[in-house]
Amino acid sequence: MITSDLSNIWGKIVLNDLLSMEPRLAEAHSTLSEGTGAGHEFTGWLTLPSTLSQDEIDAIKACAAAIRTHSKALVVVGIGGSYLGARAVIDLLRGSSHNELDEMEVYFAGNHLSTRSWNQLMKQLDGKDWSINIISKSGGTTEPAVAARLLRVALEEKYGVEGARERIVCTTDAKKGILHDMAQKMDYQTFPIPGDVGGRYSVLTAVGLLPLAVAGVDIDALLDGAREAQQKLNAERSFNNPAWQYAAARNLLYEQGKRVEILCSYEPDFSYFGRWWQQLFGESEGKDHKGLFPTYLEYSADLHSMGQLVQEGERSMFETLVRFDPPADEVIIGSDEANMDQLNFLAGKSLSFVQSHASAAVTDAHRDGGVPVLTLDCGPLNEHSVGALLYFFELACGISAYVLGVNPFNQPGVEAYKKNMYHLLGKPGY
Ligand code: PA5
Repeated sequence: MITSDLSNIWGKIVLNDLLSMEPRLAEAHSTLSEGTGAGHEFTGWLTLPSTLSQDEIDAIKACAAAIRTHSKALVVVGIGGSYLGARAVIDLLRGSSHNELDEMEVYFAGNHLSTRSWNQLMKQLDGKDWSINIISKSGGTTEPAVAARLLRVALEEKYGVEGARERIVCTTDAKKGILHDMAQKMDYQTFPIPGDVGGRYSVLTAVGLLPLAVAGVDIDALLDGAREAQQKLNAERSFNNPAWQYAAARNLLYEQGKRVEILCSYEPDFSYFGRWWQQLFGESEGKDHKGLFPTYLEYSADLHSMGQLVQEGERSMFETLVRFDPPADEVIIGSDEANMDQLNFLAGKSLSFVQSHASAAVTDAHRDGGVPVLTLDCGPLNEHSVGALLYFFELACGISAYVLGVNPFNQPGVEAYKKNMYHLLGKPGY
């Protein structure tokens, strides 16, 4: 289970400050679980790991197996919460080079309007059998809708309308929306997005689970991890709860003037998880002119690009470091008689040993430089721990947003650009 280490935030925050948050955390957690707060109609994700039916899980697995049988590649079409969770977990568990290394390739489209990226995707699919999973809760978001149309036409050209029908799966609202209506009319296989689960909280529905199963992720183990987190984190209504500690620390730091939260990891494949987290917190908390700016840095790489700013720039940031245990298959640095690179002081040491010391050195330097560092230890990197981490962040986000005093489950600000775009593009009614 996830544990949090707050020892590197002391000085900026004192224990009494943290403990004084307990009543606010208790109230926020109750507001969430009792469904009495703003946006309560979108809290279905709270119990999702334990309420998702076995029939639904079996249907997802059967669909994934069929796709894996008749296709070499799956294109997942979606934006925001309709793709980031799947992409985050696939990269983290299968590795960001999964398309080069795994039998099944999974690509993502519909999250941009780039002609270059589209042409590249067409080259990647050339000569292969492929399928698409169109994901949109509202069913009408422009970017994925455009990509879906282009991909549907390409599939129909390649396989004919009937052949394409077998290769198109839609994940959307169970009752309404343009995509729902199209899927009904065309008789495409569909998976429902529960009405009470918003996009950025939907990774543990078919939105995330179908692409994950296609990519070869063990979704049973992922759900097990999320279920365990659901039980433990909701049962522990005290400051022993790591989600409370995290929500308390980030709110206190915000109240003391911190404006930027840097999620950081020493795992390059964590990068899309960082983007998933960024959307979760950014879209949930960034409203009413409030909210920390969530950003992600990948260490060691970004120590040599952003490290200077973190160490000596404006003192408006703090770090949340996500750590996993070192993998079992260690890499040992050998001894070299000539020692031309002068690295023999590391001979016999593992790469993980060097990494853990780099991490300790960075934490000390940043803390001493005025950047508090909160650490989340997640145990071994596997489906179980990643499922738990997804749930942990979702719960902590809901609690944190209620402590901040905003509705975590709407995103009214996203409409502003859409309205302008529809007007400029000449969409009827705009
Ligand atoms: O969290 C959210 O609700 C949003 O980020 C959506 O996921 C995103 O805007 C995509 O919307 P849709 O799935 O309706 O196409």
